[in-house]
Amino acid sequence: SWNMPEFAPQAIQKVREQVGGDEVILGLSGGVDSAVAAALIHKAIGNQLSCIFVDTGLLRLGEGDQVMETFAKHMGVKVDRVNASEEFYRELKGVEDPEAKRKIIGRLFVEVFQREAKKLPKAKWLAQGTIYPDVIESAGAKTKKAVTIKSHHNVGGLPESLHLKLLEPLRELFKDEVRALGLELGLPREMVFRHPFPGPGLGVRILGEVKAEYAELLRRADAIFIEELRRAKDSDGTSWYDKVAQAFVVFLPVRSVGVMGDGRTYEFVVAMRAVQTTDFMTAHWAELPYELLGRASNRIINEVRGINRVTYDISSKPPATIEWE
Ligand code: XMP
Repeated sequence: SWNMPEFAPQAIQKVREQVGGDEVILGLSGGVDSAVAAALIHKAIGNQLSCIFVDTGLLRLGEGDQVMETFAKHMGVKVDRVNASEEFYRELKGVEDPEAKRKIIGRLFVEVFQREAKKLPKAKWLAQGTIYPDVIESAGAKTKKAVTIKSHHNVGGLPESLHLKLLEPLRELFKDEVRALGLELGLPREMVFRHPFPGPGLGVRILGEVKAEYAELLRRADAIFIEELRRAKDSDGTSWYDKVAQAFVVFLPVRSVGVMGDGRTYEFVVAMRAVQTTDFMTAHWAELPYELLGRASNRIINEVRGINRVTYDISSKPPATIEWE
């Protein structure tokens, strides 16, 4: 295992030697790995790095602004923010099947990225935040015939047709080492310790057909749940956000009856999900305090008009999966 204060300068030096005077493109996803890769490469080669950030319309609340704030504003990284949400919603219209949605989102992402990358014709390298477990996983996938429960789309598998050389400075690192490196490079703690977020984003957290209206409700409900998890501290001072491996809200496209003031409501239902796991292959639903669940539920119903019922998912994996789709 690596010692980060030693690893960081060595990795920076290595990127400089590899790249020389060439230009590099990197796809920022909002996730930890691409963020740490961007920070490292920017330290190494500054303005020779250009990042592309695709807003799919399926990101968490404020995620795009946060990426711009951290990278473009504070660190001076060149970031091309592309708003492709209309395109994603258009292609997802009428599509209900989870795997079909994954395929569309994955394909569109590559198309949009490729289009933007063409604006940087001088680039010779494509940088990716591939980490050691990704390397093992894709090697395994080539040799083993495993049953595919869910096809995963990451920023990985990007355009071979771009004819770029691959730059993967995190290839030897495990997740905890990537986080330590992120802190070493000065990235905000909140970004470095963020829960994992699936490649297809909210596209697989809105059950069935994805609509902009649903995404908007889900984003707001999810942000409230996460805020309450961050705020609630356990007896040892650790937040519940840090005590669980992953937490999020799922949008259910069904309506239920409620009452508000002296009126009847007929609005959507959401489910809160929080799990404890180390490997994400098996997971236990998190035994969150009732008080925390109650506060999050009250706030979601009071603050998000359009949602009048909140449930908590108490299924473990297996037989359920972590995501609902
Ligand atoms: P499941 O739902 O399979 O999730 O128990 C296990 C972990 O994988 C994430 N996940 C995905 N990540 N693309 C991704 O990049 C996907 O299509 C995808 N589906 C699930 C999930 O968030 C959890 O961390």
